[in-house]
Amino acid sequence: MDGNKVLEKAKVEIVNAFNEFERHLSSNTFIASERITAADVSLYSVCGAIVNLSILKLTHFPSIHRWYMTIDNNPRVIDVAKYVNSAIPDKFKRIRYVMKELLAEHKTALGKEVTVQGWVRTSRSAEKGQILFVELNDGSTVKSIQLVLNTQTIGFESICNSGGVGASLTAIGTVVASPAKGQNIEIHVKEAILLGAVYGGDNGEISGKNYPMSKKAHSLEYLREIAHLRIRSKFFSSAMRVRNAMAYATHKFFYERKFVYVHTPLITGADCEGAGEQFAVTTLLPDHAKLTDIPKDTKGNVDFSKDFFGRRTCLTVSGQLNVETHACALSDVYTFGPTFRAEESHTSRHLAEFWMIEPEICFANLSDDMALAEDYVRFCTKYALENCADDLAYFEDEYPNGEKGLRSRLSNVVENEFARITYTEAVALLQKEIALGNALFERYPNWGDDLGSEHERYITEKIYKKPTIVINYPRGIKAFYMKLNDDNITVAAMDILVPKIGELIGGSQREDRLDVLEARCVESGMKPSDIWWYADLRRYGTVPHAGFGLGFERLIMFITGLENIRDVIPFPRVPKNAEF
Ligand code: 4AD
Ligand code: MG
Repeated sequence: MDGNKVLEKAKVEIVNAFNEFERHLSSNTFIASERITAADVSLYSVCGAIVNLSILKLTHFPSIHRWYMTIDNNPRVIDVAKYVNSAIPDKFKRIRYVMKELLAEHKTALGKEVTVQGWVRTSRSAEKGQILFVELNDGSTVKSIQLVLNTQTIGFESICNSGGVGASLTAIGTVVASPAKGQNIEIHVKEAILLGAVYGGDNGEISGKNYPMSKKAHSLEYLREIAHLRIRSKFFSSAMRVRNAMAYATHKFFYERKFVYVHTPLITGADCEGAGEQFAVTTLLPDHAKLTDIPKDTKGNVDFSKDFFGRRTCLTVSGQLNVETHACALSDVYTFGPTFRAEESHTSRHLAEFWMIEPEICFANLSDDMALAEDYVRFCTKYALENCADDLAYFEDEYPNGEKGLRSRLSNVVENEFARITYTEAVALLQKEIALGNALFERYPNWGDDLGSEHERYITEKIYKKPTIVINYPRGIKAFYMKLNDDNITVAAMDILVPKIGELIGGSQREDRLDVLEARCVESGMKPSDIWWYADLRRYGTVPHAGFGLGFERLIMFITGLENIRDVIPFPRVPKNAEF
């Protein structure tokens, strides 16, 4: 009997039962009192579920309705009601089996009839076209499921003529143990329904000929040019699943530690990092605007008072200043959102649009900040090892340019503490390495200059061979909001450097003294009046506080061992490139 018929039959029986119940209640007056019996509660729950599922309307049964409303208002029942409500079954259901689950349940799934849906990864015909082997993938895992179709399969012809790789289909069949190596199960398909063929022929006909994501290996450069399709490859789907897991791990880490997630604005009037690398947001430049349309002030400069916000605004380079306001009331908070930097960087570690996680902790100093950052990176690493095993295995074992020893590197991160060193010690160490002839750098590391990527990587890759925290940088090279140390020459900053990437995290204790903050603001070429609201936090109940920013894409590179930041974000934004 099919599902609908079962439901119809059940409805008839429910209506019969309700008629019976109605007859009973119409002759026996019910008064809800202190005594509510288990039977009342059960009947009440059943009625609630039936109403919620829209099986029938209680108003059609006046006595039941009256009884229901009486009991519904009884305080003792209100607690029960919570459970009644949560008893509503989920409405979203899949007919298809999620492949990751099916593969995990392979032992108990044997012999079951299942439906799977997805896109063809490979297809191969055998026995003179009598059998077709299809590897189908639904994106839930890097692994595909092998379908075996033959001339008995309903829809066999249409799948044979679907264009092959890239076609989408539904398959209904029986799970059987697979004789092929590398897979536990396969599906012997009873019926296959072609959903979308591949129209890749020279004249737009069905053919796999020109499908951009054909089975052969493609370079990452080529795949970046087809960013709308590259997610269909093992490489990118694995990267995006790891990205998803890291976003989840991030929220889990902070949620479990009682941090509040704060959504800071993307449009801002402040330049947090003071580097001036911002994208302007304006409505003064509509499509086809002429230069003469732009309003000017008396000095001939653009008159931003005529702009949408009545002032010049930009996309944010950091949520920090805004999130500090919430920290100074909620104590421990974090942001996790898009961040924009208009720097002309063409490196494999920079994006113009990236995501940043910025925790901010109150009643805390630099030491607490470092502890939090180290715990967070370790938590994410452990989470990836435990939850992204297949994808990490793909990057290490299958992807030809993958990092050998990836998982053991990650295990080392979980099992060992990060190295710690001051900026001054780091510079001395680098200078010593040069003097000993061990290292050669493009730029000599002078005290007072920012560490270059070559210096950062040398420290973490060659000297410590593990994540390294560098603290106490010269005041001259760091942002105005960092707390001035007692030596008056360094600030309580910290950068976490990791092998192959360099800087993964930048953070600091914040300057919580109003006078020092304002002086540092001026020293950095800014006006204290520009950050009046930020300074107010030091005026009204200032507290020691600290925070850091972790570049999310750099974390994904760190976890996957992938070498180009453009390959760990769906649609990379870099200079001269925003096609998709
Ligand atoms: O060191 P940054 O500039 O620090 C801040 O923005 C602070 N406001 C953070 C804070 O204390 N709340 O940036 C933090 C991190 C860097 O360590 C790096 O991982 C990443 O953001 N990052 C970039 N990632 C990709 N592309 C870029 N252009 C990046 N610039 C910074
Ligand atoms: Mg930095």
